[in-house]
Amino acid sequence: MSSVAVIVVAAGSGTRLGRAEPKAFAPLRGSTVLEHALRGVADAAPAEVVVVAPSAWLARAEALAGAAVVPVRVVAGGETRQASVAAGLAALADSGAEIVLVHDAARALTPAALFARVADAVRETGAGVIPALPVSDTVKRVEDDRVLATVERSDLVQVQTPQGFPRAALADAYARATNEFTDDAALFQDAGGEVLTVPGDELAFKITTAADLRRAEGSGVPVLRTGVGMDVHAYDDSAPLWLGGVYWPDEPGLAGHSDGDAVIHAMCDALLSAAGLGDLGSRFGTGDPRFAGAASEVFLRETLALVAGSGFAVANVAVQVVGERPRLAPRRDEVERRLTQLVGAPVSVAATTSDGLGFTGRGEGVTALATALLIG
Ligand code: CTP
Ligand code: MG
Repeated sequence: MSSVAVIVVAAGSGTRLGRAEPKAFAPLRGSTVLEHALRGVADAAPAEVVVVAPSAWLARAEALAGAAVVPVRVVAGGETRQASVAAGLAALADSGAEIVLVHDAARALTPAALFARVADAVRETGAGVIPALPVSDTVKRVEDDRVLATVERSDLVQVQTPQGFPRAALADAYARATNEFTDDAALFQDAGGEVLTVPGDELAFKITTAADLRRAEGSGVPVLRTGVGMDVHAYDDSAPLWLGGVYWPDEPGLAGHSDGDAVIHAMCDALLSAAGLGDLGSRFGTGDPRFAGAASEVFLRETLALVAGSGFAVANVAVQVVGERPRLAPRRDEVERRLTQLVGAPVSVAATTSDGLGFTGRGEGVTALATALLIG
């Protein structure tokens, strides 16, 4: 999605939701409405993202946006949604992005595929593009409580965000707009732009009321992330052996940074990898003297805090150890119990030799491989 910028409008107060904090900052599945919205945006990998937040909540929005995988700029919104979108467009004035997608943070569970569908259609047609779903309920025209007519619904759709446009054309339409419109497509069309629809997505529903928030809590495919990690350490006869979070007397230790616990190091890398948070070296600095000789549990606890901070829970971690020593089988259950306790989710540990081949086969060191699954 190169040359696509996304504006996430999150500056509303959420009156109908009726919470103390603005709607974008309402809790949702262990994080916030805004963080969920940003996850969908980040997965679509746009070139630029601007979040429009209430002016009193800029610092909070910046903190939440800082954990997102894509770089996000935060600007203050206005009195109306239209004013907030205008603020987002102003922030993109010098952008090289040819396409802009305007998205409601309140549509927190919108999948990345919908962003791609809208952007692709804008790229192909040069028109404004909006996601639309058929109207499934019967629609009536009324006057107070009296029904005047049943509205033919076959040519009606309900529309969602992200709404996509050639950026320059939308900026131009906004610059010329004198009325308030209910969505960006209406403003764009009023300025003479053509608007097309693509199929919307049930998951892009807007959280407006408390019932919608409950629906968002319980609905939708959970976001799953896998990660992979690996660590290798050479044996060091002079060091005590810590592996899998337990002490192994009468076994050669492992050389390396901290206590050399290759199992925990591989687990940390798998967890950081799954959360998109880099790796052990970049997070904790293997050269950092503060961590020299530190128990690897310290890294694991720090890693778990980072993962939790990104809004994910650990579903499980699986580890495979390759090496001649120690023989894991006799203490495998104990290691699994210890690691499961540390992580707070099931950790399984398996071991194998490399059939005499390579450095592990020659008894020079140990390899640990780990995968982690996160759920958000
Ligand atoms: N929005 C905005 N600036 C405003 C008003 C709305 O950025 N002045 C954003 C909201 O944060 C939301 C989206 O526009 O993500 C859709 O608006 P809506 O669902 O109406 O949200 P709120 O205006 O916050 O809610 P309410 O109307 O219940 O107060
Ligand atoms: Mg509103």
